[in-house]
Amino acid sequence: MENVPLQLLSPGDIRQLADALGVAPTKKLGQNFVHDAGTLRRIVASAEITPGDHVIEVGPGLGSLTLALLEAGARVSAIELDGALAAALPRTVKDRAGEVASRLRVVNADACAVTGLRDLEAPTANGEVASWEPPTKLVANLPYNVSVPVVLSILASFPTVTSALIMVQKEVGERMAARPGSRVYGAPSVKLAWWGEARVVGGVARTVFWPQPHVDSVLVAFARTPARAWEGLREDVWELVDAAFSQRRKTLRRALAPVCTNAQRVEAICAAAGIDPRWRGEALGVEDFIALARARRGGVSADAPGKVNVLLEVGPARSDGYHPLLTVFEAVSLRERVSIIPDCDAWGVTTCFVDAEGNPTPAPHRWHEVADEDHLALRAARLVADECQAAPAHVEVTKMIPVAGGMAGGSADAAAALVAANKAFDARLDETRLYELARSLGADVPFCLAGGMCVGRERGDVLTPLEVTPTHHWVLATSRQGLSTPAVFARFDEKKSASPRALERELGCDWEEALAEEDPAKLAGLVANDLEEAACELAPHLRAVLDEARRAGALAAMVSGSGPTVAALCAHETQAREVRDRLAAHPHVERALLANGPAAGARVVTR
Ligand code: C5P
Repeated sequence: MENVPLQLLSPGDIRQLADALGVAPTKKLGQNFVHDAGTLRRIVASAEITPGDHVIEVGPGLGSLTLALLEAGARVSAIELDGALAAALPRTVKDRAGEVASRLRVVNADACAVTGLRDLEAPTANGEVASWEPPTKLVANLPYNVSVPVVLSILASFPTVTSALIMVQKEVGERMAARPGSRVYGAPSVKLAWWGEARVVGGVARTVFWPQPHVDSVLVAFARTPARAWEGLREDVWELVDAAFSQRRKTLRRALAPVCTNAQRVEAICAAAGIDPRWRGEALGVEDFIALARARRGGVSADAPGKVNVLLEVGPARSDGYHPLLTVFEAVSLRERVSIIPDCDAWGVTTCFVDAEGNPTPAPHRWHEVADEDHLALRAARLVADECQAAPAHVEVTKMIPVAGGMAGGSADAAAALVAANKAFDARLDETRLYELARSLGADVPFCLAGGMCVGRERGDVLTPLEVTPTHHWVLATSRQGLSTPAVFARFDEKKSASPRALERELGCDWEEALAEEDPAKLAGLVANDLEEAACELAPHLRAVLDEARRAGALAAMVSGSGPTVAALCAHETQAREVRDRLAAHPHVERALLANGPAAGARVVTR
């Protein structure tokens, strides 16, 4: 598909077409047709349309923007409500630009009723039946209030639509893009924020329309962000948002009472969600409404830390395949969060990923979608449910710990799920039982429950807490390549470098001293990992990352657990920032993150 310069519709063409069709633009449908080629091409450029895009165009009218989209090389599925206009559009395009007619399909429908790929199926403008890849972008010229419902409906129905460019009345556009606290922030702003980020990217003069409208227009660019919550919560969020903004001046306590039984219940829900019931809707971001929706359904959230192994001594494999360990775990401030929504029709799990600031990010490429029944968080929740005959629940997992990085991300999911489920199901399992369940889920799960710093023996799941005085500053550098824990242990076995005697020893008093010292230099002298050599053989680039961390000034650098994350211990926060910056610039490093330790174990949280 090529960009082909086309003759776009001039003001004269527009009037002629309208006359020929007997179209008098109706106020009811908000019909104002753009007749300025410069504006049309600007819209297409702002929408970043490239050949290969499949664009849903809502409200093509006489086809002026449609031609500009076709000119940019896109396939266009145009949805037009007006029957006469929908019938005329294929002819207009065929007459003026026959060579691109095979890239246009016209659907005569209300855009809100177009909810699936089948609804978009229509013959092309030159009568062919073609099957197209799913749509990638939305472009719409919707001057009146239908704009927000249409955009929300298309975003919900077509997950492959990753961006949109919408021409709307200025006030509507500003409301779409508003942030909490703004005077025009309202229900449309929050609902769009569920799907992504909207920005006003420019104004459009009244003079480019025929007939000239009495309002100003703007262009709103929208970019979809990865989902931040379970889709099953969306209707709940909508209901709370509508209630919160139905009377802007009311506090949440009063505004939400009708959809939460009464004001007292609103207070309990707000407390569980960490939100002040005296606030008004306009202060709440979409995250806050999601927290309220979870709490209203009796949802409980917990988080749990990732870990580094400051010491990892490994003995020869046992008959069950596991290796006896002498390890010193340190929990760090990168945490996974798990929310349990009880009383659902079926079990399910949703996984989303966030960056260090908590913003949703795409799944890392080495994340392989695990089957629900294998997801450690779901397995943990089901174990708790089995103990108390709880109904199915939905499990939401928000991941911050590097995936497949040797930092116990999966184990932290399990630990957080145990704690959240225990409360959400009111299972009242005591600590001993929780630790038994944790052990049955994986060797590192008990430590993610415990947190802090612990000596771990046997599989790493027999724990003795350690006293630690100061905070440790870590930099964690992830790799693009993941390493499988069993593969690293297998390489270790091949090398026959196990140290059986070491496992019988106690930690010396040098450890006690090192952990009591404000200066972590002593601790740095004790850092050791028996798996490091095996990890470096499987991922040789790790040697360069370790060297770089040391050159950048880290007191010690090691592979974390089975790797490939490299953990660098720093003297203080300033140094940690320097090391972070240096590692972030290293070609073999994917991300370099700051973290503190020791961090708390799994615990219920409001957010
Ligand atoms: O228990 P978990 O599933 O977290 O362990 C993952 C894998 O790591 C095990 O299947 C085993 O191959 C290896 N492992 C080990 N010895 C340990 C802990 C883990 O060999 N102490």
